[in-house]
Amino acid sequence: MSSVHVDHGQWSSRLAFILAATGSAVGLGNIWKFPYIMGENGGGAFVLVYLLCILGIGIPVMMAEVLIGRRGRQSPGNSVKALAIEAGANINWSIVGWLGVIAGFLILSFYSVIAGWAVSYIFEAGSGAFVDASPAEIESIFNNLLQDPIKLIIWTTFVLVLTGIIVGKGLKMGLEKAVSIAMPAMLVLLLIIAGYAAFNGDFTRTIDFMFTPDFSKLTYSGVLIALGHAFFTLSLASGAMMIYGAYLPQKTSIAQSVVAIAIADTLIALIAGLAIYPIVFGNGLEASQGPGLVFVSLPIAFGQMWGGTVFGTLFFIMLGFAAFTSAIAMVESAVAWLVEKMEYSRAKAAAFAVITLWLFSMLTVFSFTGAEWAKLDFNFVGKHVTNYFDLIDHLTADVLLPLGGLATAIFVAWIMKKEAVFEEMNMSAKLFSVWFITLKWFTPIAVLFVFLNLIGIVKIGQ
Ligand code: TRP
Repeated sequence: MSSVHVDHGQWSSRLAFILAATGSAVGLGNIWKFPYIMGENGGGAFVLVYLLCILGIGIPVMMAEVLIGRRGRQSPGNSVKALAIEAGANINWSIVGWLGVIAGFLILSFYSVIAGWAVSYIFEAGSGAFVDASPAEIESIFNNLLQDPIKLIIWTTFVLVLTGIIVGKGLKMGLEKAVSIAMPAMLVLLLIIAGYAAFNGDFTRTIDFMFTPDFSKLTYSGVLIALGHAFFTLSLASGAMMIYGAYLPQKTSIAQSVVAIAIADTLIALIAGLAIYPIVFGNGLEASQGPGLVFVSLPIAFGQMWGGTVFGTLFFIMLGFAAFTSAIAMVESAVAWLVEKMEYSRAKAAAFAVITLWLFSMLTVFSFTGAEWAKLDFNFVGKHVTNYFDLIDHLTADVLLPLGGLATAIFVAWIMKKEAVFEEMNMSAKLFSVWFITLKWFTPIAVLFVFLNLIGIVKIGQ
């Protein structure tokens, strides 16, 4: 397993890292996934558990990942391996890094399809298709897209090819600029939509739904979904934070950067909920309708609000941007690895990754079109899966990411030398202790507890 040491370069500044990492964290997870899984899992109590997971598990693990990347300075697997050697531990710990690369890859196989929906909606919105359309008409626009494999394939291909080109060219620095414009623009648009929704939809019910926890509505699998989503939304256990950490200048404070990224990510998700739910409740839509939620609810608002065609088009452009900056981060670690291991050029590595991904993405495309061969019917780690999308979504977010996060926490807090960790973190001894103890005890116990419950070893609740 020899591989050459490749110098992948560094971010130009701390802000550049924060922007790129925020670009990776903020994406479809915040605007597409968070609102619909919150709806499927009963609202407030789910939101509370999710917030606790971000604070007690997500942030500590993210600090650990960035640390691994920066100290190792290579692709995730090789970074962990280098640190295992430094600690005198078994080099098979590098699996912690590989798991991430695999998870990132699997996630992108469905992420690219949903990103394709967002891109196709730029044109739907721009053509005025939503203007004065009834909720039923807007639902049928979405259903028509799902039943059109050609359209889905074209948009998915577009997303993957563009991602491949950007990653192949190594446009890390272009990324910084794109994120610094797209993220604030996204925030402003979400606030405008939330403002509109507050006046024209059912805002009181939304506040009650999102912020009044009703624990009778939360199941154990809901707790696992909240935990898994905390990892998903922060791009954890999927290679990204390790590889972006690998490009981080030595002096930057890891803790401060990570907290800033987590706050931005959480805010965007909550505001997305505040923009979507008043419209859902005001128009009699189902909160638990699943992956189509944002693609049905917001177009209703765009169809009715003043300037809706412009706002709608801009919104889907920004959503597309947010998805691209995440997709780029997802392939980056696989590409960095191909460059180290196979000595491919970036362009060749990116092409290779994207073509493989395209094949996998077809499983998702045909899951949504309802093709017979993409249907599945079995129980897998606490969930009944009905198609490949279901399976890969569940396998990554609810299984691989929490397990990867667990392994990362154990590696940094139990395997690495504490002095090495302290040296790399470069923070006050007090804060370091708080973080280190959380990572050493709370994080692993909480993740294990949720898991063991789910597979029925400990049984508490439903
Ligand atoms: N955080 C991204 C989002 O919320 C999704 C994601 C998960 C991701 N793992 C990743 C993005 C790895 C980049 C890299 O949309």
